[in-house]
Amino acid sequence: MSSRTAAVTGATGFLGSHLCARLLDDGWTVRGLARPTSDRGDLEGVEWYVGDLFDDEPLRSLVDGTDVVFHLAGVGLWSADPETVERVNRDGTASVLEACRAGDVDRVVFTSTAGTRRANGTSEFADETDVAEPIGAYQSSKAEAERLVDRYAEVDGEAVTVHPTSIVGPGDESFTPQLLAMGLEPTMPATLPGGASIVGVSDVVDGLLAAAAHGRSGEHYLLGGENLTYDRAAGRIADYAGGTAAPIRVPATAIRAAGPVAEGVRAVTGRQVFPFDRQMAALATQRLFYTSQKAHDELGYEYQPIEAHLPEILEWYRGR
Ligand SMILES: NC(=O)c1ccc[n+]([C@@H]2O[C@H](COP(=O)([O-])OP(=O)(O)OC[C@H]3O[C@@H](n4cnc5c(N)ncnc54)[C@H](OP(=O)(O)O)[C@@H]3O)[C@@H](O)[C@H]2O)c1
Repeated sequence: MSSRTAAVTGATGFLGSHLCARLLDDGWTVRGLARPTSDRGDLEGVEWYVGDLFDDEPLRSLVDGTDVVFHLAGVGLWSADPETVERVNRDGTASVLEACRAGDVDRVVFTSTAGTRRANGTSEFADETDVAEPIGAYQSSKAEAERLVDRYAEVDGEAVTVHPTSIVGPGDESFTPQLLAMGLEPTMPATLPGGASIVGVSDVVDGLLAAAAHGRSGEHYLLGGENLTYDRAAGRIADYAGGTAAPIRVPATAIRAAGPVAEGVRAVTGRQVFPFDRQMAALATQRLFYTSQKAHDELGYEYQPIEAHLPEILEWYRGR
């Protein structure tokens, strides 16, 4: 059993709660950041530090004296306006790094997104070198946060960045139920065009731990899963679970046409609705495929096919 200490921001979120559960199982001492409003779930054994990414004192106490700071806290356009997304993802990362500089921290593992990388046309699969022009506040804030972490690794201490693709698992109220509905619900009329690299949350947790243990400081690692069109993913889920995959694929033109509509809704009401804007609409119709070869070679990262994750996911989904 290990006696290492981890600090986890975003510990009350989907990925963070799975990470904390694994760290506890593996014998780590786990400190989690929770806002006063956070739902801490049923994790027993986490030492909670109450505050947000901009509260200096709890943040400093959280990270000081730890072996690894896993910085996961972040927000997307689904739940926040672009200004908040920029502030939390970019300035929140700056705040965590400042606390790490002030304290005694062995290593930072930052969770960015695969969205800051995109295939460049020579291969169907993007790798870590395929740095993309950011689209929207989420990608631009994560790209800026990555630069802060890279700078920290150059100047201040050890830091590694991981880039998960589209994560599925119990407890995720955004992507996972939508994907399952495409494969299971006879009333769900359509799948999306395009596709994604779909990765189980337990595989991402493996990747986070491997990055902490073996990642080279200053490096970036994509943590992906199977590259599947949404049609294919829905069919695989339907085959596994005996459901009925959505029969119609939404035409890419319909999603693109929704881009200006979403911009109009935002201009008039201030509300963010999918697909947010024209550029994001175009992105949603593409095959966003990735290779995790570097993580495999350097970290020993492996991912499982979607069927390996489905028993746990279906149990959670049906029990909601
Ligand atoms: N899910 C995916 O498919 C995916 C893919 C690629 C990358 N990622 C990245 O992985 C990380 C975790 O994602 P997730 O899916 O687990 O997200 P999530 O379920 O929405 O969790 C987000 C976490 O961040 C915390 N947080 C947000 N704003 C904060 C603030 N101002 N101060 C302190 N904590 C704050 C939330 O706290 P509360 O509980 O109080 O809200 C929550 O614990 C994010 O950085 C995300 O960008 C996720």
